[in-house]
Amino acid sequence: MRSLGIIGTNWITQQFIEAAEETESFKLTHVYSRTEEKAQEFVDKMNKSGINLSDDINKFLASDDFDTVYIASPNALHFAQARLAIENGKNVVLEKPSTSNVREFSILDTLAHAKGVYVFEAARQIHEPIFKTVQNYVDNNRDSLSGATLSYVKYSSRYDAFLAGNLPNIFNPKFSGGALYDLGVYPVYDAVVLFGAPNSVDYEPEILSSGIDGSGSITLKYDKFDVNILIGKTKNSYMPSEIYFGKKTLLMDSAGDINRVTEANEEKKLTEIPTNKSDNPMDSETIEFARIMNEKDTKAYEKLFDYAKKVNRVLEQARTSAGLVFEADKEE
Ligand SMILES: NC(=O)c1ccc[n+]([C@@H]2O[C@H](COP(=O)([O-])OP(=O)(O)OC[C@H]3O[C@@H](n4cnc5c(N)ncnc54)[C@H](OP(=O)(O)O)[C@@H]3O)[C@@H](O)[C@H]2O)c1
Repeated sequence: MRSLGIIGTNWITQQFIEAAEETESFKLTHVYSRTEEKAQEFVDKMNKSGINLSDDINKFLASDDFDTVYIASPNALHFAQARLAIENGKNVVLEKPSTSNVREFSILDTLAHAKGVYVFEAARQIHEPIFKTVQNYVDNNRDSLSGATLSYVKYSSRYDAFLAGNLPNIFNPKFSGGALYDLGVYPVYDAVVLFGAPNSVDYEPEILSSGIDGSGSITLKYDKFDVNILIGKTKNSYMPSEIYFGKKTLLMDSAGDINRVTEANEEKKLTEIPTNKSDNPMDSETIEFARIMNEKDTKAYEKLFDYAKKVNRVLEQARTSAGLVFEADKEE
């Protein structure tokens, strides 16, 4: 088992650690938080003892009791924290979206290669068996592939606070928030992994008073078809996502958290495609990240890194098309 340090003490970190330990991929050894009290609270909540705690990020990343750091902080902090981690020779699992823009991504790319460390983007859904089922279906029917509509629209647990006049990180341009850089990452990943990088990207967002996108629609243009994506954090949609193959359609109950995949054949008959779904959606990614590092599977690593790079570029292209600027862009 590899050793793990963590940055960010919200529920997603707990879920990642549970997956990492259940799958015997990583063992938590060190928790960083901005305050030691919060770090202690986090390990207490997880019923853990013997874990090192830090409130100084430099000392944390310089320590030698872990080789991989999982970063689940607000989006805009990913770049500086990952850069510091890489400089300290750590492998990095970076929550989605990896960075705020292409400039940051390419700096991490260069640095990680120079230091010989791994940088993974935690795009959990593409590692799940149910996504592989979709991927196999697309590969087997690629000749008739004729487009897709992908939807991931969920009312944010933080939207009520926003409406009440607060500014949660995810609705704040200072932290590279918004629907595109949160839920939008999932359908963009679906498209990039299943269909490759698009020829062009256009995003029509609904802008909130904080200046970020609360919801919107993205069009990805490919040589022979379009992919239409609906995203949002200000409402709930129950619309399925669909991939079209002429008269046949593949339906997924979600573009980001797929639980059910169904085929509609030429006679419009629906047949559910059997597949596996793990209780913890992060299980598969923890297994794969550890496997790649343990086996030094460069080919698999480069493929994942290339997906992350393409997704990062599509997100920036979408933002540019909509005139959405983050504070992170102004650093250039
Ligand atoms: N893969 C998934 O399914 C999934 C699900 C949810 C979120 N995510 C990703 O995980 C990341 C974190 O999301 P989140 O909703 O948990 O974010 P968040 O609640 O805003 O912040 C996460 C953690 O970062 C630290 N933090 C918060 N504000 C900070 C600030 N102003 N300066 C420095 N540190 C700060 C806090 O840890 P301390 O107080 O301990 O320092 C906090 O627990 C995002 O990139 C998000 O996209 C992924």
